[in-house]
Amino acid sequence: MKYGFSDRVKYMTSSAVRDILKVINQGNIISFAGGLPEEDLFPVKAVDEAFHKAITTNKKALQYGETEGVSQLRELLADRMKQKGLHRSADNILITSGSQQAIDLFSRVMFNKGDVILTENPTYLAALQVFESYETKVVAVDADDDGMVLADLEEKINQHKPKCIYVVPTYSNPTGKVWSLERREKLLELANKYHVVIFEDDPYGELQFDESETPPSIASLDENELVLYTSTFSKTVVPAVRIGWIVGPHQIIRIMAQAKQATDLHTNSIGQHALVHLLQDFDIDEHIQTIRKTYYERMLVMKRLLEKANFEGLEYVVPKGGMFFWVKLPEEMNTTELLDEAVKEGVAFVPGAPFYVSDPEQNTLRLNFTNSEPALIEEGMKRFVKVLESTYINK
Ligand SMILES: Cc1ncc(COP(=O)(O)O)c(C=O)c1O
Repeated sequence: MKYGFSDRVKYMTSSAVRDILKVINQGNIISFAGGLPEEDLFPVKAVDEAFHKAITTNKKALQYGETEGVSQLRELLADRMKQKGLHRSADNILITSGSQQAIDLFSRVMFNKGDVILTENPTYLAALQVFESYETKVVAVDADDDGMVLADLEEKINQHKPKCIYVVPTYSNPTGKVWSLERREKLLELANKYHVVIFEDDPYGELQFDESETPPSIASLDENELVLYTSTFSKTVVPAVRIGWIVGPHQIIRIMAQAKQATDLHTNSIGQHALVHLLQDFDIDEHIQTIRKTYYERMLVMKRLLEKANFEGLEYVVPKGGMFFWVKLPEEMNTTELLDEAVKEGVAFVPGAPFYVSDPEQNTLRLNFTNSEPALIEEGMKRFVKVLESTYINK
């Protein structure tokens, strides 16, 4: 049977990372490839109690619900965001099936074929998948350790008249970088000057290693209704609950809610009600402290082993939060080829190339440090270094 797929399907690509994960999960491989949180840190008892309470105390938890999301959950989120300087009312929040759906719904209501989106390069792969599926044109802006390079950003705004600037400014996936306060402010200035919407994707903002060092979200600095901000419970509670949220200008959120009606009616009621109980009965902030502490310790283990590796031309930024090291090898090296060798040796990472919008640097790779306990990080890095030793250009 020849199926008549829509033209749109041409623009739907499979995620290179998800494809790699399928292979890796088959063997006895220590994986630094996925972006997974540590399962041993899942607050299993609290989640169990919250779901039990949701089911047994309120039949609404099992009923169809409002598209915008359970109002109590939106109120609680508005309160939590307020504590972080982001003052928005519950009416401006839409609960989504993870931040991933927020990216999709936003794209659906904002972009026509050929519209331009400016992004960092590299950036979050699954956002690129969404943007491409709506036939947009994604253009990369140069970046350094502090965020987008503003001169290049302004030039590209003038040249391409973008509809949106998509950023992951806090402990980014894949680079682990965090934008400076100055770049955040200047990005807002430029967006305001040229009337461009900013989409701030912030799943990792709460995973900082040093509380005093986290700059405010771009959304919290926004005085002109320019920023759409999304975050998620995937990294702080459990990803399986599939609950995230987006907050922004009411006009956009309202249209996104209409798009959501047509997509899935609403995000799962039971999970939303359970999260209400969890936020009320469980000290999520204390739990987040535990996550931060554990991830910080693991990051230090990986950092020590990277330092020890000490190959010429091996570079990385030490992350101040989040889940990843972004590693650069000498230019002549190709990490896609290196991955084959690594898998034979029993260790995996994600090659950097798929995260690029354009001009992929084949010598880059991403290492996740959150999903392996220290002894496994030690063993995995031993294998990784062995592979580097046997293939390294500047030996
Ligand atoms: C930058 C970024 N945005 C969005 C998501 C999607 O998260 P969620 O599980 O909330 O859909 C992820 C997941 O890893 C991510 O890294």
